[in-house]
Amino acid sequence: MSATFTKSALLLGLLLGLSQAQAASEPSPTALASGLGIPHPAVIAHRGASFDAPESTAAAYKLARDLGADYLELDLQRSKDGVLFALHDNNLQRTTDVASKFPERKDSPANAFTMAELKTLDAGSWFNTAHPDRARPSYAGLKILTLDEIIDIAQGNSQHKPGLYIETKEPKQFPGIEHDLKQKLQTRGWLSPAGSKLAKSELAVGQGKGKVILQTFEKNSLELLQKEMPQVPKILLLWVGEGSIEPQSTVSFAQSGEKDKAAYYAKQQPKDKAEFQRWVDYAKTQGAIGTGPSAALTQGGDQSYSDLVQPWMNQYTHDQGLLVHVYTIDEVVDYQKVMDAGVDGIFTNRASELLKFYKRPAPASVAQVLQNNGY
Ligand code: G3P
Ligand code: CA
Repeated sequence: MSATFTKSALLLGLLLGLSQAQAASEPSPTALASGLGIPHPAVIAHRGASFDAPESTAAAYKLARDLGADYLELDLQRSKDGVLFALHDNNLQRTTDVASKFPERKDSPANAFTMAELKTLDAGSWFNTAHPDRARPSYAGLKILTLDEIIDIAQGNSQHKPGLYIETKEPKQFPGIEHDLKQKLQTRGWLSPAGSKLAKSELAVGQGKGKVILQTFEKNSLELLQKEMPQVPKILLLWVGEGSIEPQSTVSFAQSGEKDKAAYYAKQQPKDKAEFQRWVDYAKTQGAIGTGPSAALTQGGDQSYSDLVQPWMNQYTHDQGLLVHVYTIDEVVDYQKVMDAGVDGIFTNRASELLKFYKRPAPASVAQVLQNNGY
């Protein structure tokens, strides 16, 4: 055995020993979540209970709340006159009647409209057309919601207080939105835990330390959120593609010949292991408490992306002392798959199904809760 080999072996042993010691010194994901006041595993209602009601509307958020979801998820934007509101898409075409109310401006970004203009739009009827099997006459005319209105909904059930899981959506379009968000949360008392009776209960996520989780795909926004609200838990969202994890292959969807985007994304992988690890390491360095990776769904569809919750990926993330909240999963087969792979919470459009899967059944059926809320 050469002296060089012995030295290398010693060094490797030391490095391995160190990494094992580092992993061993991190709390378990359950303990980590508990220390942060985040339910484990967490039920994150993606744009509200958006399978059963129009996304990001009062119907969807009240339904998610009253079913017992831990968090109401929303994509944050800012109107032309500076009001924070929830909308996923960059423009209003898919989920509102902007084309009939403002035909000349139908392709404009949502932030080119004042809140008064946004409030004239019907954000519910599209759902009835797209999903006739789940349509309800009362969905017609539902409004786009301000952050204030979503906070009111989160606080509005005396039996269950969900938290808020807020994404800065396309933050480059909204300089200073991280500061605006801080101001709003502060004003509404959402930056300090409340001390009521319910606060000790597991139904009171929205009153404890983990009452708000901030999420973003953008490194710059993560850094600004950390600067503005260092004490609030943050998640760095991950996917494979432009602006996020570099892919192994640079072949575009158009060049790939794949039949749909889900099939294309399913084959997209991080360039290599180190590239994935760099993003997790970055999240940790910037003060995030976890990552929000994409998943490849069994049935494909437009929410199916690269599989970034492979067991080694979750293990690596846990070894860094971080949690994994995966997006966006609606089927039991996939709930089981990602839980087996080791995730700590799931973004879902079907809070009712995920709660059932976790053996935390809702107090009433979807139809009953909708009816109770007047829908
Ligand atoms: O925020 C998690 C998940 O919602 C990210 O994807 O496009 O649905 O906002 P998206
Ligand atoms: Ca989102």
